[in-house]
Amino acid sequence: EKGGFASFMDKEIHDQPQAVADTLLGRTDLEGRLVLDDLRVDEAVLRQVDKIIVVACGTAAYAGQVAKYAIEHWCRIPVEVELAHEFRYRDPVVDAKTLVVAVSQSGETMDTLMAVRHAREQGATVLAIVNTHGSTIPRESDAVLYTHAGPEVAVASTKAFLAQITASYLLGLYLAQLRGTKFPDEIAESFAALRAIPEKIQQVLDAAEQVRETARSMAEATSVLFLGRHVGFPVAMEGALKLKELAYIHAEGFAAGELKHGPIALIEEGQPVFVVVPSPRGRHSLHSKVISNIQEIRARGARTLVIAEEGDEAVLPFADEVFFVPQTPVLLAPLVSVVPLQIFACELATAKGLDVDQPRNLAKSVTVE
Ligand code: M6R
Repeated sequence: EKGGFASFMDKEIHDQPQAVADTLLGRTDLEGRLVLDDLRVDEAVLRQVDKIIVVACGTAAYAGQVAKYAIEHWCRIPVEVELAHEFRYRDPVVDAKTLVVAVSQSGETMDTLMAVRHAREQGATVLAIVNTHGSTIPRESDAVLYTHAGPEVAVASTKAFLAQITASYLLGLYLAQLRGTKFPDEIAESFAALRAIPEKIQQVLDAAEQVRETARSMAEATSVLFLGRHVGFPVAMEGALKLKELAYIHAEGFAAGELKHGPIALIEEGQPVFVVVPSPRGRHSLHSKVISNIQEIRARGARTLVIAEEGDEAVLPFADEVFFVPQTPVLLAPLVSVVPLQIFACELATAKGLDVDQPRNLAKSVTVE
């Protein structure tokens, strides 16, 4: 069943172009308008939503953080992202105009389920983005948008993560269409850009040997840091989580802008740091700011492992290694930039002789609070 791959995780990383393509399949009508047939929610309710709160845990919560950037940009609705277990036990401001989006691969995560129940008790509409059909979270939600990643066996989430991000983009574009916050042409353009993503992920997979080799050379590492900014921030967090889970290496993700507010004190000779560089084509000056961060940490001895867009030569003077990924519209970039980090963690754990599909102490779905 592993289809010739060494582990389920390796297979599932390679399934990602398909997972994204399948999640996009059948989502437009003949006129090219987005249709989310399985959603089962009243359009009138979605029109009057004035706040979105994403609740999720672990990797699914990082998908939610990516969703925040896209949905706020496309729909002009404020989006909060909260760990489900934190949401549940405070006194969140939620009412009938709040859309709570619960993101879960398994659909059985108890923390997320409790947040769903809590949100519905407060009168919110709950929409589930879930991979597993017939699971509890969609059954207890008002609406559901299924990701079509197929069954995910490895404990560490990979293809479900990409499918969750894809589904949340669909949700954002659908809300923008419904509420008229973007022109139909702009929505069609973003959807077309999404359709081009599987091919780009495939290109990253085809070029994976470089990151594998780096991973094998780092089997002795005891600490790895990850920096990112804007949508690259949740990517950095996810890269760190993958490495902790699989390789049992101390890893931390930071917002690159936070560096000088503390984390830069951690940098010493030889400290490996992955940096997810934003596109130089972005509207803001984030690209040059992150390049400055790379310079700053390199000057203090960091070993800089840079993920950058093809053609971005500005990174070359300051990078010990560059992993190029195809050019992608800014908001969609996580779907390609996270892939080298997944491969890195998988390969490093394999080099350490660890069981990447069943890391110690972890369960595929956490059905207790
Ligand atoms: O099934 P869920 O998406 O609700 O699971 C949420 C987290 O438990 C899960 O993403 C966990 O963080 C994974 N081990 C990440 O690889």
